[in-house]
Amino acid sequence: MQKNKSIVLGITGGIAAYKAAELVRLLIKANIDVQVVMTEAACQFITPVTMQALSGKPVFTGLWDALIANGMPHIELSRNADAILIAPASADFMAKLVHGRADDLLSTLCLARDCPLLVAPAMNKQMWENAATQRNVVQLKDDGIHILGPDSGEQACGEVGLGRMLEAEALLALIRAHFTPKVLAGKRVLITAGATLEMIDPVRAITNLSSGKMGYAIAQAAANMGAEVTLVSGATALTVPNNVKNISATSAESMYQVVMSNVATQDIFISVAAVADYSPVITHTQKIKKSEQTLTLELKKNKDILADVASLPNAPFCVGFAAESEHLLEYAETKRQAKKLPLIVANLASEAMGQAENSVTLINKNGAHVLPRASKAEIAHAILNHVVTMLS
Ligand code: CTP
Repeated sequence: MQKNKSIVLGITGGIAAYKAAELVRLLIKANIDVQVVMTEAACQFITPVTMQALSGKPVFTGLWDALIANGMPHIELSRNADAILIAPASADFMAKLVHGRADDLLSTLCLARDCPLLVAPAMNKQMWENAATQRNVVQLKDDGIHILGPDSGEQACGEVGLGRMLEAEALLALIRAHFTPKVLAGKRVLITAGATLEMIDPVRAITNLSSGKMGYAIAQAAANMGAEVTLVSGATALTVPNNVKNISATSAESMYQVVMSNVATQDIFISVAAVADYSPVITHTQKIKKSEQTLTLELKKNKDILADVASLPNAPFCVGFAAESEHLLEYAETKRQAKKLPLIVANLASEAMGQAENSVTLINKNGAHVLPRASKAEIAHAILNHVVTMLS
């Protein structure tokens, strides 16, 4: 995501206002500048002092606030904003937006805006299901307003159903997606991720330490950039990213089959999975009982998914990963050439596997390009931007 985006965070009256505090913290951490504006009702649930401390800026609550130099906060506050986000948005505030009402600072700001408006509803399930609210949601979408959520689950009133505001993490992910330039629009991207699991018997398997985080981050980034993403997941405990089609394939052989049956229509193939190079010749149907002092497992070599995809007649643009423990650049470049890849991402297993951050070097035929250590989400965007540059 580009740095230094700026948003106006509007908070309306609802118990979910407490989640806005965490949201501000996450937005600031993500380098997004936040200007908080609260309705009178919001101040009954959380204080402007809390929001000021977290955002590092004075919070505006009234139309007649003298803090803005020209006395026109309804125009001035959103002038430099890249978006206005209302979180939580009460049923009443959504109804106001539908009618273009402007009787307080936040609603006036929304009416006078020149930037996208994102709305995260938060209300009791009956209020959400009410025909009037549903009519309002349709109208807001028709007016080009983005509706984020709501979530379903236990509510403050004790009921269970749709209407909860999305959690702060989920809102941040949607805001990141909103701000990401759609440089992969119209492209289909196939990604493998995670470790494979080669079963020895019903309770034992050969696997590795890949967490799937890098592959999932690339899937999320590609979807944020507008691509149609198919993710082929090995063994991972991660949540499937937004707007991504996920197919589970835990063994190297099943991953091979899934990739081959989906690859024909793809523009880009990114092979992040740590695919087992070998699997047991026999998978025992019953648990192996211990007997002798040693046990010999006979292993057979698995097919190389990436190499086979790269050598297809109409191969998509192929990106490989090389996780090494030594001679990083040399081994990675050897793999790139052996598998006939336009691009390989080299990383040291000790710096990558299971971690939230990664340090990678991108290698193509013109040489190596080192990326500074960063979160896997940032690395994912950088890799994909590199792919976009190479494709153009
Ligand atoms: N790969 C694959 N199918 C396999 C093995 C690897 O698609 N059966 C892909 C990985 O997803 C990764 C790249 O190939 O993109 C890694 O190359 P490889 O040489 O297979 O790496 P290692 O398996 O780590 O090889 P080695 O053990 O020889 O270092």
